[in-house]
Amino acid sequence: RGLLRDELPGAEVLVVSNREPYIHNRDGDGIVLQRPASGLVTALEPVMRACGGTWIAHGSGSADPDTVDRDDHVAVPPDAPCYTLRRVWLSEEEQNGYYYGFANEGMWPLCHIVFVRPVFRAEDWDQYVAVNRKFADAVIAEARTPDPVVLVQDYHFALLPRMVRDRLPEATIITFWHIPWPNPEVFGICPWRKQILDGLLGSSILGFHTQFHCLNFLDSADRFLESRIDREHSAVRSGGHTTLVRPYPISIEWPPAALAGVAAVEECRAQTFARHGLAPSVRLAVGVERFDYTKGIADRFRAVETLLDSHPDWIGRLTLLQVAAPTRGRLAAYRDTQAEAEAAAERVNARFGTAEWQPILLVARHHEPEEVLALFRAADLCLVSSLHDGMNLVAKEFVAARDDGDGVLILSTFAGASRELREALIVNPYDVVAMAEAIHRGLSMPVEQRRDRMRLMREMVAENTIYFWAARMLLDAARLRKRRAIERNFA
Ligand code: G6P
Repeated sequence: RGLLRDELPGAEVLVVSNREPYIHNRDGDGIVLQRPASGLVTALEPVMRACGGTWIAHGSGSADPDTVDRDDHVAVPPDAPCYTLRRVWLSEEEQNGYYYGFANEGMWPLCHIVFVRPVFRAEDWDQYVAVNRKFADAVIAEARTPDPVVLVQDYHFALLPRMVRDRLPEATIITFWHIPWPNPEVFGICPWRKQILDGLLGSSILGFHTQFHCLNFLDSADRFLESRIDREHSAVRSGGHTTLVRPYPISIEWPPAALAGVAAVEECRAQTFARHGLAPSVRLAVGVERFDYTKGIADRFRAVETLLDSHPDWIGRLTLLQVAAPTRGRLAAYRDTQAEAEAAAERVNARFGTAEWQPILLVARHHEPEEVLALFRAADLCLVSSLHDGMNLVAKEFVAARDDGDGVLILSTFAGASRELREALIVNPYDVVAMAEAIHRGLSMPVEQRRDRMRLMREMVAENTIYFWAARMLLDAARLRKRRAIERNFA
């Protein structure tokens, strides 16, 4: 808030994302709120609580849009309102084409390169264009000033920056791409690659998690657009407008606000063990994600199987509790991922499990943030084996939850987080044998080493919090605005 006041005086902040921070679901006669399983929301919500402003998002809950629940503007969070949620309603057709179709069957697999074939349909593209326009209209309608700071989020809105730029030429548009950006060979598969690049280049600043993704973007613009790439300043000049392309590794709130409502480590452990009927001698590994094929859930089950084969002394002594929130279930690739993981868990449990003990407990339901943090506290080890991930905030949340200074993190080398959390046991999730060995190593690690590693990782996350992420982008934006003012004054 202070930064906005000092560096961006009078600036109005508008956020645009597909996923809303609070989902309003109808339950009988009342409305219940759900906080979605989304790294983007986890990261951005504390920033909005601190800065205020308007968050424009798709109204996705089951609360009936045709009744009293159809309130376009809601003050949130409900207990202590400090910003406005502006909900945009989408028809079935729009949602199918824009969200399930182009965004999640096209862009998501394209950018993650996990060998799930991207699907590009002209009808989906048309809806994607139309919905981007609809959200751009909402930005224009909400903006009270000619030069707001617009924070555009993710692969759902690649076209929106240009649409807003055309109508609010003075706006400072910061777009953050929360998922990886592939190399030009892969990106070039997209039939609308030019439009996607041109849309994004309506931004003043375009952010990725890592330098690697920035370079991939510059290479893609270089290959497919008539543009000038300024590698020295990491900028693209196209159609008379310059876009800075910068890495901003995203993070979490420190400590996460939800941690205040979570019991201490010993109690979390006792409760979790009692709930799942685990013997006190069992070591507990946890995995927490959306049921997404990018997360490598079945791979980690196979790693547990390999571990029990190669180190049979763990039989009866290790349980992996995997929590996976069902997601994007209308798409076959997601249903297949869930079915594959369930089959793998069943197979491993049938091979090794007994009446008293199961190696894998798979709980396929949504968990609220407090429940997730309690699980992290209950665990000996956390397994993050994404096949590819922009950042992965589960890894950072695990570290944040462990204020007792203990716990081991196993982390995929293909998650952006592995660039920062170097004291995790870094693994290649495609290498099941190496993952099994890492689990063995993690569980056998002497307590002093666990603590040394955790201390360093906690220092990293405490230093680079979500507020730093936002502050670095906003400071870069402030500098751009000051430069522009100088240029105007001396023109
Ligand atoms: C990733 C994406 C977010 C998305 C989240 C949850 O983190 O980068 O944009 O919100 O997954 O997915 P969903 O489709 O449920 O919003």
